[in-house]
Amino acid sequence: MRVSILLATIVSGCALAPSPATATAGGTGKPAYRDASLPVAQRVEDLLARMTVDDKIGQMTQVERTEPASPADLAQYRIGSVLSGGGSAPTPNTASSWADMYDSFQSAALSTPLGIPMIYGADAVHGHNNVRGATLFPHNIGLGATRDPALVRRIGRATAEEVSGTGVDWDFAPCLCVARNDRWGRTYESFGEKPELATAMTTMITGLQGQSLGGSASVLATAKHYVGDGGTTGGKDQGDTRLSEARLRALHLPPFKDAVAKGVGSVMVSYSSWNGARMHGSHYLITDVLKKELGFKGFVVSDWAAIDQLDGQKDFTGAEISTAINAGIDMAMVPYEYPRFIGLLREEVAAGRIPMSRIDDANRRILTKKFELGLFEHPFTDRSWTSTVGSAAHRQLAREAVRKSQVLLKNASAALPLRKSAKVFVAGKSASDIGNQSGGWSITWQGAGGAITEGTTVLQGMRAAASDPSRVVYDRYGVGIDGSYDAAVAVVGERPYAEFEGDRQDGMGLDAEDLATLARLKASGVPVVVVLVSGRPLDVSARLSDWKALLAAWLPGTEGGGVADVLYGDYSPTGKLPVTWMRSADQQPINDGDGKPSLFPYGYGLSYGRARGGVGTHVTAVANDGGTR
Ligand code: GLC
Repeated sequence: MRVSILLATIVSGCALAPSPATATAGGTGKPAYRDASLPVAQRVEDLLARMTVDDKIGQMTQVERTEPASPADLAQYRIGSVLSGGGSAPTPNTASSWADMYDSFQSAALSTPLGIPMIYGADAVHGHNNVRGATLFPHNIGLGATRDPALVRRIGRATAEEVSGTGVDWDFAPCLCVARNDRWGRTYESFGEKPELATAMTTMITGLQGQSLGGSASVLATAKHYVGDGGTTGGKDQGDTRLSEARLRALHLPPFKDAVAKGVGSVMVSYSSWNGARMHGSHYLITDVLKKELGFKGFVVSDWAAIDQLDGQKDFTGAEISTAINAGIDMAMVPYEYPRFIGLLREEVAAGRIPMSRIDDANRRILTKKFELGLFEHPFTDRSWTSTVGSAAHRQLAREAVRKSQVLLKNASAALPLRKSAKVFVAGKSASDIGNQSGGWSITWQGAGGAITEGTTVLQGMRAAASDPSRVVYDRYGVGIDGSYDAAVAVVGERPYAEFEGDRQDGMGLDAEDLATLARLKASGVPVVVVLVSGRPLDVSARLSDWKALLAAWLPGTEGGGVADVLYGDYSPTGKLPVTWMRSADQQPINDGDGKPSLFPYGYGLSYGRARGGVGTHVTAVANDGGTR
């Protein structure tokens, strides 16, 4: 059947008649699936029996919010899920307009004959980062440095409250990738280079979902990206992870096993390949391992337009759709051209290339999570949570996380902590830049420098901590420094990026602006403290001897005051490296136990009281001056 005729069939709504009406709840006339007192499994079966093939295909289709010509389109095509791609926000970008947008899509979904609520997904990967004014927490690499799973659970809960306040009920987080090569642009989305770190931080799932789905502000979590995304050759994003099955299972599978055990509601498949075979086509890893061996009962979602990549050509085809759905993918993040997608999927089912049993299994998984989330009973935004977006309490929690994520790598002559009465010269492109300190996935997909949202810069935090803020002088480039200052603090590092845009296949050093600023500070003879705002270790060996102290701040998010807490000694640093710090970029990949001589080993971190090694590291006690290694 030609797609156009097919579409006419769908659009006209004269889809195949549903199977015979099934039970009503206790003779109330209300269909059983609408009776919340019945077991979820029974409600699912009742609903499934009432659904047409087009209803079922629609449930497996996720579209980007900008794609439907109007929310009414959702009803015509029976769309089961909508998402915001990175940075895709309503105008104005406020929590309440997000909630209005969500409710408008939901009203359309509920207007269909069976009234199945849609589920709305977004990347709240370090707080509800698409929403202006939301609290942005440190990115995962900084949370890995805290070694504090309970803190990560609390962050998950705070994130769930802000996400719920905007209507969104599905978070494409946590990323449980194990970053093995710091050249990878998504290193900062990882909790670190060892599987046990990501496994420990699956507490994020419990924070987001609650002990079980459906409680107040409960949001569906997503374990991503399954599996081996952080292990690609050369750290190439969406590249090829060439490992034996034993090594893949040892390095990259454990966090997903723990996520399943914690009841994660969804799993997102990785763009990457395993030994040359695209993950999105892997029946063995998705169905045999994830669903059968690990017992995953939630639903599997593809990554953004990832199905299109299966044949190495642009756009998706019926054959690619069959490969992905038959591999075990339950919902397709299409996200554009959904009428064509639905037409092709309908054709594949009609031709028997996708068995109806697979369509029903996908629907059972999706509907089970919608029932468990309570979407049938509470389909609209719970506006009681909207005021939590960017709340003081959440910002305090974020500041605590920033403090605990700071890793002190060098502290010669006890340059830190600064005296609050000290005369300090602050320089660097990231000292007064919320955008730089937040990194990628912040208001926009790639993030950007500048005043992108509300928060506290490192400089603002320092001035608030100092006894006389006028003695904290700032020039981005270090112009004006002289010998009258007690110390110079250079806040330098990386500009924001996300995904493949952040891959660094060449040098991993500081950029020209930072180097020029640092040279100016060095020339003054004033002791230099470097605060590195970056998504990964950078190649700083050659410069380290110029600096009295080095603090890895990672990507702290909106609460730069947490960095000042450490700089001024209101908090003695406790952070430990979640990744091995290279001596030079050509050592990549460099990981604990591989025998390569690092600049700072995994688990390394100093405090003001004494040198500290991390659990399971080889670092020995070092003099408080940190010394150069
Ligand atoms: C992106 C990312 C994934 C994200 C998805 C939706 O390409 O790979 O992490 O959840 O698309 O934005």
